[in-house]
Amino acid sequence: MMTEDFREKFINRIICGDSLTVMRQMPDNCLDLVVTSPPYNLKNSTGNGMKDGRGGKWANAALVNGYSHYNDNMPHDEYAQWQHECLKEMWRLLKADGAIFYNHKWRVQNGLIQDRSDIIRDMPVRQIIIWHRKGGINFNPAYFLPTYEVIYLIAKPDFRLTPKANAYGDVWEFTQEMKNAHPAPFPVALIDRIIKSTNAQIILDPFMGSGTTAIVAMGLDRNYIGIELSPDYCEMANRRIERNKHESELMKFRTPSLFSQSI
Ligand SMILES: C[S@@+](CC[C@H](N)C(=O)[O-])C[C@H]1O[C@@H](n2cnc3c(N)ncnc32)[C@H](O)[C@@H]1O
Repeated sequence: MMTEDFREKFINRIICGDSLTVMRQMPDNCLDLVVTSPPYNLKNSTGNGMKDGRGGKWANAALVNGYSHYNDNMPHDEYAQWQHECLKEMWRLLKADGAIFYNHKWRVQNGLIQDRSDIIRDMPVRQIIIWHRKGGINFNPAYFLPTYEVIYLIAKPDFRLTPKANAYGDVWEFTQEMKNAHPAPFPVALIDRIIKSTNAQIILDPFMGSGTTAIVAMGLDRNYIGIELSPDYCEMANRRIERNKHESELMKFRTPSLFSQSI
């Protein structure tokens, strides 16, 4: 049961802080769903990626300049251990019919395949969804243009999709988000698909960035909890949420029939 204290501190709030520290303050079994994309440790690259902001094959990518308060450059094993601990904590917070949608990217580094199995070890991965990111430009003749990321569905035994959601299949095409000042935002449509595919009422994003998970949850009349380290992105997310609230108020005003349906 949700206590008044939990509701007051966490529900429909963006908490500015370290993800693990904040999750550790939350009670067991308090969430229905986690949707998240952690930092990928992209600056810890030996090759032709984002190393030291020099760009390489991603010279034009927004992430070349990194996140505002996080350098995304841990030794690999430390990074994998940190992300594993974050997943364990998300798991503790989930109810018996809950699930985690954990977005990441596979890569090859120094000839070694990083398929993130060191992060997801011991976790009951039920399915891997391929997110085919449409579009992109590649000027490097040594590589095919990378066009996909993965989403691990890590689910508790009682987790079920909403009726007909299974028909989406396991390869999803969504164009990358362009109209967002955050360097690595989720496409709104991707999060809309995930949340609508579940009956989740309380949804956590422990790496909230610009607040995409929150605004989609709000639009679907679900509750969100966001955690984000960077005060700049917390402000960005809160501004986006306020703008969204304002716009939905205006919509209600403009379409009385819709408004009357909702009361
Ligand atoms: C891939 S981005 C998430 C973007 C988000 N999905 C969106 O739609 O905007 C990862 C985020 O994790 C944040 N971050 C990095 N370390 C963190 C930590 N220890 N705790 C919480 N957030 C952290 C970064 O600042 C960044 O905004």
